[in-house]
Amino acid sequence: MATQATAPLPPITYRRSPSAMEAFDAWLKEHGQELPHHTEKWDVSRSDIYLEDRWQPIFAEMRAKAPVNKVHESPYGAFWNVTTVKTIQHVESLPELYSSSYLYGGITIGDPPEDITPERLEERRLPMFIAMDRPEHTGQRRTVAPAFTPGEIAFLEEEVRARTAATLDTLPFGEQFDWVDKVSIELTTGMLAILFGFPWEDRRLLTYWSDWAGDVELGLARELIDVRHEILLEMAHYFQRLWMERASAAPSRDLISMMIHSDAMNHMSPQEFMGNLVLLIVGGNDTTRNTMSGIVHALDKFPDQRDLFEKDPSVIPNGVQECIRYVTPLAHMRRTATADADLFGNEIKKGDKLIMWYLSANRDETVFENPDKLILTRENARRHLSFGYGIHRCVGARLAELQLKILLEEMHKRRMRVHVTGQVERVRANFVHGFRKLETTIEKF
Ligand code: HEM
Repeated sequence: MATQATAPLPPITYRRSPSAMEAFDAWLKEHGQELPHHTEKWDVSRSDIYLEDRWQPIFAEMRAKAPVNKVHESPYGAFWNVTTVKTIQHVESLPELYSSSYLYGGITIGDPPEDITPERLEERRLPMFIAMDRPEHTGQRRTVAPAFTPGEIAFLEEEVRARTAATLDTLPFGEQFDWVDKVSIELTTGMLAILFGFPWEDRRLLTYWSDWAGDVELGLARELIDVRHEILLEMAHYFQRLWMERASAAPSRDLISMMIHSDAMNHMSPQEFMGNLVLLIVGGNDTTRNTMSGIVHALDKFPDQRDLFEKDPSVIPNGVQECIRYVTPLAHMRRTATADADLFGNEIKKGDKLIMWYLSANRDETVFENPDKLILTRENARRHLSFGYGIHRCVGARLAELQLKILLEEMHKRRMRVHVTGQVERVRANFVHGFRKLETTIEKF
């Protein structure tokens, strides 16, 4: 890709409010009644079951009775639920048959609005390798993979630890505060800022953008799709500036510089470069944030496990895997069948949408004993599917694990016990699974 400056950039006025969630709440209040209804028992695309944390028995029933089953009508059209470890691994191991490509509909349950023409869609689309099939996927994944090798991750450790320590040291003991805002968002954006060499004072823009980019439910609100498009354009402009700055500077170790100066860059268009940057921001943002919130929520819910963590910090590395299993910050990924197929006795037709519910597979009782309990010493915790499986398995998994390990280690060093003492507000979504607010109070153990 050419790295010289192109046309002058328009001035940027960053909108910081409303957040995607506030905008969708307001939209729902006004138009909610116009939405198509969820009528089928196993239509788990309904976001109220995640908002109210009552999805567990519905998926348990599916796993027992029909691990692969079809929902015929929903606001997202017809789709297949794929709910167990075995069935999801099967689908993910056949990427030619079960496509991730945006050409078939991409990786989330929502489809583009019907009134957008293919040309307009193509114009608006930010190409990302998570929504590509082989061979394009392979080449583009290779561009960012070098930033996530064990050596690179080890290089980041010192800085991530210092930032984590500094953040934890600002927390007030004995006073209630929102863990999501003060810890999860702060640490996640801080880590991404370190990774990209992103201006520190602007780091909260990453959360703002990521929420607008990642919220699938917005797709139900036609007007908000256009707002989202404008906000993402602002983000693209911001990154274009960073890119031009880095392109004219000597190579450095941040991810933007690494991507610009890599060989694979010569085979990537500016749109693809931007799309992949956005993918990294979105991919690394609400996932890690929600795990950081989910961990303290889970430790408070299972006091015996919190005791274990406090008495024996050697459980932390395995405990991180178990927390990622238990929390499952992305509820699903979607695939689309490229041909007719038989999936464990179910007749899949070309073009059918398959939703792989990681949230359910991580509670698969044939793989995880007592799956609804957090067990920090669980022997097979690593078998969780929170990072997916196969050729698209999360490229940032090691970095996420590192951050979570450091968070628990630094909490332990400070003898920090976190109690959930106030409001717990979950995200209203069927894709991102996590917390909007988590009021907590800390004491010393
Ligand atoms: C892909 C989860 C953190 C970047 C994925 C996928 C999942 C996932 C489920 C798709 C797998 C599939 O389709 O089979 C998570 C979780 C995280 C996390 C649960 C934290 C706990 C991160 C971080 C980054 C990142 C920190 C980078 C900064 C990506 C990218 C992909 C991806 C680039 C696309 C990989 C591909 O298509 O080959 N992640 N992720 N993720 N993730 Fe993550």
